[in-house]
Amino acid sequence: MGQTPKITVVGSINMDLVTITDQLPKMGETILGQQFQMNPGGKGANQAVASARLGAAVQLIGCVGEDMFGKELLQHLNSEGVDVSHVEQVSDQTGTASIIVSKKDNNIIVVPGANNHVTASFVEAKREVIAASDILILQLEIPLEGVQKAIEIAKENGVTVILNPAPICELPADVLTKVDYLTPNEHEYKHLTIDDNRAELIGKVILTKGSEGVSYFQDDEELNIPAYSIDVVDTTGAGDSFNAGFAVALGKGLPVDAACRYGNAVAALSTTKLGAQTGMPTDAEVQEFINKTN
Ligand code: RIB
Repeated sequence: MGQTPKITVVGSINMDLVTITDQLPKMGETILGQQFQMNPGGKGANQAVASARLGAAVQLIGCVGEDMFGKELLQHLNSEGVDVSHVEQVSDQTGTASIIVSKKDNNIIVVPGANNHVTASFVEAKREVIAASDILILQLEIPLEGVQKAIEIAKENGVTVILNPAPICELPADVLTKVDYLTPNEHEYKHLTIDDNRAELIGKVILTKGSEGVSYFQDDEELNIPAYSIDVVDTTGAGDSFNAGFAVALGKGLPVDAACRYGNAVAALSTTKLGAQTGMPTDAEVQEFINKTN
C-alpha cells in the first residue's frame, strides 16, 4: 500500500429519488412536500466516489440497467474519476432508492434491480481486478453470493476487506471470520450479535454511532473516537463517507484509530450538503477541516 491506495468497491449503484418534507405522511394520507431531487447514489457508488475524491485509485464492480438512469450514472461516475470499466449494463432497471429526508434524518427504500446481477459468477469474472487491489470495500445491496465470492478472491490474494453490513441481513459465520473490518451502525451491530457471533467479531468491528463517533474494540476494551460537531443538513451517505475515509486512510498505512478519526472528518463534512455524494470532500478539504478543528 502506498500514497495512492488501490481500492476496489464491489457494490450497488442507484439513482436516489429524494423528497424533502417537514412531516411524514401516515399510511393512506397525502401531504405536500417541500423539494424533490434526483441524485447519484447507491452505497457502492457512494463509497467509490468518496474514495476517489480522497485520492485513491478506485475500481467499481457492479451493474446498472440499459436505461436512462444507468447511462447517467455511468457518465457521472466516470466524471468523478472512478474506473467503471467493470460496471456492466444489463437488461434490467437501474437500482433506485426512494429517500425521504425529514428533520435532518432520512428513511430509504431501495429497489436493487440491476444490482441483483452482481452474482458470484459475475464477480468471479472480475477476479483479477480484486486480486490486484490493496483494499476491497463491500456492502449488502448486491446478492450475498457476490459478496462472498469477492471476499474469497480477496483473501486468496492478501487484499484487506472492509464489509459495511448495510442493509443488514443474516451473515454466514465464514463471512464474519474472513473479513478484516466490519463497519455496522448500532442497529446493524445489534442484529450481528443476536446469534452470539462475538468471537468472530472481536477486533474487527468498527461501530459507527453517528454524532457519538465510532467505537472499536482492543483487548476487550471499547475505545471511542468522538465525532466532529458540525451543522448537519442531510446525513444520507454519511456512513458511506466514513467507510471511504477509513479505507483510504488504512490504505495509506494509518493505524486504526487515526483511520477512524479521518473517517469521522470525511463523514462530518459529507453531512453539510443535501444528497449522498454532494458534500463528500476531497483530501485537501478534510486536512483543512481537521487543522481548523484541532
Ligand atoms: O447510504 C446511502 C445510500 O443508501 C443512498 O445513496 C441510497 O442509494 C441507498 O443505497
